[in-house]
Amino acid sequence: MDEKIKTLAEPFRIKMVEPIRMTTRAYREEALLQAGYNPFLLVSDDVFIDLLTDSGTGAMSQSQWAGMMMGDESYAGARSWIKLEQVVRELTGMPHVLPTHQGRAAERILYGLLGGTDRIFLSNTHFDTTRANIEFTGATALDLMPEEALDPETWMPFKGNIDLDKLETQLAHYGSERVAAVILTVTNNSSGGQPVSMANARAVRALCDRYGVMMVIDGCRIAENAYFIRMREDGFQDKSYHDIAREMLELGDAFIMSAKKDGMVNMGGLLCMKDKELSVKCINQLIISEGFATYGGLSGRDMEAMAIGLQEVFDPDYLHYRIRSTAYLGEKLREKGIPVIWPIGGHAVYIDAKKLFPAIPVDQYPGQVLVCELYKIGGIRCVEVGSMMFGKYDEQGKLIPASQELVRLAIPRRVYTQSHIDFVLEVFDFILELRDRKSGYRITYEPAFLRHFTARLEPHPGGG
Ligand code: F0G
Repeated sequence: MDEKIKTLAEPFRIKMVEPIRMTTRAYREEALLQAGYNPFLLVSDDVFIDLLTDSGTGAMSQSQWAGMMMGDESYAGARSWIKLEQVVRELTGMPHVLPTHQGRAAERILYGLLGGTDRIFLSNTHFDTTRANIEFTGATALDLMPEEALDPETWMPFKGNIDLDKLETQLAHYGSERVAAVILTVTNNSSGGQPVSMANARAVRALCDRYGVMMVIDGCRIAENAYFIRMREDGFQDKSYHDIAREMLELGDAFIMSAKKDGMVNMGGLLCMKDKELSVKCINQLIISEGFATYGGLSGRDMEAMAIGLQEVFDPDYLHYRIRSTAYLGEKLREKGIPVIWPIGGHAVYIDAKKLFPAIPVDQYPGQVLVCELYKIGGIRCVEVGSMMFGKYDEQGKLIPASQELVRLAIPRRVYTQSHIDFVLEVFDFILELRDRKSGYRITYEPAFLRHFTARLEPHPGGG
């Protein structure tokens, strides 16, 4: 690429087209009302640009689609499995590789075996399905972020790191009798898609060795993390992204991956480990609930596509485009005066809705206001990551808010072009006009668990 040209053009051209349609504002207002002001309840045909998640929403390449035709659907020992196993062994250095239908299936199997009442898991930040699978066994999940990383404004090269002092304190306190595992989430999804440094991963390894505790890497965005390491950490400039990822994965005792992210597929997951005895126990669980050990919950063609995706994701042009295009959206929003979590992470831009709408009380869900307005104005779908998702109630039924009121704009891989992103940016000009808004929403229905998926809301009587 000529160094003088600044525009970052997508390193692919489009061969197959999926139409999307823009509706009228009146149509979207009605659709949102019918969906109880919860975008999870919208039908996707009514969405123009879908930034709900980067999980399973990417576009596969021509090689992956060609590979689908080569899928071997044999129940046992399929050719597609042998190929996937080899690619994953080369990436992880781990001998035992289990296919699963998605990330949380791998979590349920591993944490189901390691967890149980009185067991403790320590992590930079547990993703919500990770926490749910751990807590379901009766165990406790503790997030150990450095205090300075909790400030949304501070620029840190590796804001996803685990706090090593806090980790050592917990390890010393609970010891290997209580601590089931340390889980390093790479990149750290719940803290803004921020990267974890190799130095941090090495230090975690050293502490795990000292205290005799297992180290798990939850690495569904391991390639995106490798990009940040090469850009920001000394000593990695001459290494390939694949080698950087491998170096980090070799530090772990086990690796869990939702392949719906950096596996570049619409469905799939992996559970890998070094220990044979543990792998035998995991395979038993796999066979009971997912499928035989050479397909997990996957079709042969899914495994074929994943094997190819796991190689394509390390292409330097792809990774540069991927990380820079997320940053493009985040940096332009910041220039407009939209408060974003800084610096911009790998797969998503996070907006601080409390700062954006300072007059909306937290118990009227400022994040949900932004989510709904983005849909009303531009047909854009995204998700609140604040009190709507994590809020709890005290004994008087008063909301205990989440620590932050964020909104996540997650970018699907290889799906939207720069003009789609420019469209999103323009919609934010209209959002800025709403900054003095004083009221939000109230919940009219909510289930007992994971309420954000199915809750229904209405505009707060104070306005809305
Ligand atoms: N771990 C992390 C760090 C994740 O981000 C996810 C999924 C999982 C595990 C679970 O994987 O969905 O394949 O079962 N994250 C998605 C998201 C859902 O939108 O961030 P899964």
